[in-house]
Amino acid sequence: MSKILFATSEAYPLIKTGGLADVSGSLPAALKSLNHAVRLILPAYPQAKERAGPLKCITTIHLPGSQEAARVLEGRLPGSRVYVWLVDYPPAFDREGNPYLDANGRDWPDNAERFAFFCRVVTEIAMGRAGLGWHPEIVHCNDWQTGLAPALLSLEAERPATVFTIHNLAYQGVFPAEVFFRLGLPPQLWHFEGLEFHNHLSFIKGGLAYADKLSTVSPTYAREIQTAEFGYGLDGLLRHRATDLRGILNGIDLDEWNPATDPHIERHYDARRLSAKQDNKRALQAEFGLPESNDLMLGSVGRLVEQKGVDLLLDIIEPLAELPVQLALLGSGEARFETALQEAAARHPHKIGIKLGYSERLAHRVEAGADAFLMPSRFEPCGLNQLYSLRYGTPPIVHAVGGLADTVVDASAEAIKQKTATGFCFYYASGGALLRTIGRALEVYAQTPKWRSIARTAMAQVFDWKSSARQYIALYKETMTR
Ligand code: ADP
Ligand code: GLC
Repeated sequence: MSKILFATSEAYPLIKTGGLADVSGSLPAALKSLNHAVRLILPAYPQAKERAGPLKCITTIHLPGSQEAARVLEGRLPGSRVYVWLVDYPPAFDREGNPYLDANGRDWPDNAERFAFFCRVVTEIAMGRAGLGWHPEIVHCNDWQTGLAPALLSLEAERPATVFTIHNLAYQGVFPAEVFFRLGLPPQLWHFEGLEFHNHLSFIKGGLAYADKLSTVSPTYAREIQTAEFGYGLDGLLRHRATDLRGILNGIDLDEWNPATDPHIERHYDARRLSAKQDNKRALQAEFGLPESNDLMLGSVGRLVEQKGVDLLLDIIEPLAELPVQLALLGSGEARFETALQEAAARHPHKIGIKLGYSERLAHRVEAGADAFLMPSRFEPCGLNQLYSLRYGTPPIVHAVGGLADTVVDASAEAIKQKTATGFCFYYASGGALLRTIGRALEVYAQTPKWRSIARTAMAQVFDWKSSARQYIALYKETMTR
């Protein structure tokens, strides 16, 4: 049994902006079910405080230079027995809405201070200096918001081992150099093999350079980030650390995402009752203001940002509207994409339905009601929506990169024959390739038995957390014997 402090900036159902929350809400519970002692630590945002209650203050920590003492509030991750520790420091975290962005979608101007504070508290707890009487053997950090913790811990003697997981290398937490000095970080961390990145402060480098072991969320992405194309200037460092870097595929919560029991969807179904999916399609059409039709219903859910290939979809929106398809898209993100999608829906009200915003319920209903799921991501560290789609018998149409390449088997003639196909892949990020692949899906969709066979194979795939958690445990073990 190991003692693990799992540090993250979001965790479902306490607070969520994307897949990091799904992972942070599931992996700690999976580790616990394998008999490891886990504490999930995150900032005490108002939503998190509401949802993790009842809360008990278990210690206070006064960091030098801070405006007031931080309290550590202990609660539970809903639906599990995992203890949650919320770092309650109102000057940094008592803000409604998104954990990283203000109401206008801009980064909070003090993000560096906020997450540096969080990392310092994590470090104090990790070192057993917070009066908690609990000494983790492993500190598992996730993404840039937690990157300073491995760096600070590297300066300590007798410290726990550190693991840093990259969920998305595109978000690095880079700030002007003066922020490093303003934060009062130890000067020995300021060099090009440390926190400095082109004369800026890089939070993510704290993880990449100083954690004992690194992981990312799929084997393919682990390889991709070691290349200039996907490495964002950090590929050299990642190649240097290649022997410490693992790709461990995310799992999904099989209870939360189960078409046989999902409370959000119109009608339950499973692989033997696939025809019941039709009722979910009708409900989706009604909800997205689309006419009833038997055309191929494409679903899409996600952040409307460049990563997700929204521009590829917009490039082909006119020819797409000529095909026997409908599109139900749920998302929110950059204004330019939101506007362009709304305009497309206004031009083609019978073909394209758009819902801007964030809705767990609708996300489930899109997975259940769509025939196929669109995920033309330019890059995708793992991706969860394609895994939900597989489970919902909604073959994903994906750009075969990162976790998409590792989880979707293209419906080539051979794979269809062998009954291994689970979706449709394209291998070059262009609108043309996406359109051709949708065309290929349409051909198969016209042959119902073939389509159903792909959907059933998709539903039989198991991406559970248990096997991923075992791989993390193996990584922790390696780390502890460093
Ligand atoms: P990323 O973390 O890059 O956003 P993932 O596919 O790993 O991508 O995870 C995204 C998660 O966020 C999924 O659980 C998805 O359903 C959810 N999600 C994204 N956008 C929305 C939205 N607008 N409404 C509801 N859920 C959303
Ligand atoms: C990131 C990635 C996504 C991944 C998620 C959880 O947000 O963009 O691909 O699934 O983290 O690891």
